[in-house]
Amino acid sequence: MKSEVLKIRSTVYEAVDMFFRSNGFYEVSPPILTSFSCEAACVGGSDLVSVNYYNKKAFLSQSGQLYLEALAMQLERVYCMGPAFRAESTLLATHLSEFWMCEAEMINISFDDLSHNISSLLTTIIGVVLEKNSSDLEKLGVNVTEFDKITKKQIPQITYSDAINILRKESIPIEWGDDIQSSHELLLSKYFDNLPLMITLYPRALSSFYKQVCPDDSKLTLSLDVVAPSGFHEIVGGSMRENDVECLRKTLQMSQSDISPYEWYLETISSNPKKHGGFGLGIERLVTWLCNLNTIQDAIPFPRTKEILWP
Ligand code: 4AD
Repeated sequence: MKSEVLKIRSTVYEAVDMFFRSNGFYEVSPPILTSFSCEAACVGGSDLVSVNYYNKKAFLSQSGQLYLEALAMQLERVYCMGPAFRAESTLLATHLSEFWMCEAEMINISFDDLSHNISSLLTTIIGVVLEKNSSDLEKLGVNVTEFDKITKKQIPQITYSDAINILRKESIPIEWGDDIQSSHELLLSKYFDNLPLMITLYPRALSSFYKQVCPDDSKLTLSLDVVAPSGFHEIVGGSMRENDVECLRKTLQMSQSDISPYEWYLETISSNPKKHGGFGLGIERLVTWLCNLNTIQDAIPFPRTKEILWP
């Protein structure tokens, strides 16, 4: 891994801590060993990595989110930087089996507050990297002016439905309800001056069980993704969280044969039905984009994929 990339990665960590600590967040540590899946309980979710735990089956965390939600009920604003594990079945330049994710959870926020926090985090990180690592970026051949432009603008937003309409106008064969693919994201970012793009209000059928159903349209969730420009793929995924325990239970039952491992979470939500939301930022996806790398494997010192478990 290039030393310039290592240095930029270290600055990203520094900027993440700076942002959260100066905005009243507490750093917390969710467990890595778990007994349930956070993300597989949804359509198209990636597979769990299982481990033998005292002769019982356990899993490596896909996301600390559900624990962060519980901790946010106590501390209001929490964040963590932790590893996430996903047994991705296909080998892609954008996917690792082990990656690092910065996650945050906030109580008493609106969907607008959530998107505002994500935009501010991203512009803070880019600003700090530009300040500390401009010569590293130049050595990597990165167009620094493009990143400078991002720090001066709001991240544009578009709804999922509008994104589908744009793609259809561009003669892309896509229907409402389909997943937006990387090639589509590339086309969409060109519509928005090659800035990162926030896509909001995804169909419920594409959403994980914990995403809050839109109060004025039950086909949608109060969800968002941020996609990096130039085909660098999704860097952030977030949402408001569902507070209706019966709705959570029903959605879980549609994808899980046994929902008992989620009972503690359902209990946490039912005893603290507070409006809350949060997000996860993939560190290697961000570094791949910031450093203009060809593959995500160059954004982490010892990558782990389906094919790579060495050294
Ligand atoms: O969108 P995802 O799946 O969201 C969650 O895990 C939420 N539970 C986070 C939360 O709300 N607290 O993943 C979040 C981000 C993605 O946007 C992407 O940047 C990154 O994690 N990511 C990956 N990075 C590398 N390799 C993979 N296989 C990744 N899967 C997700």
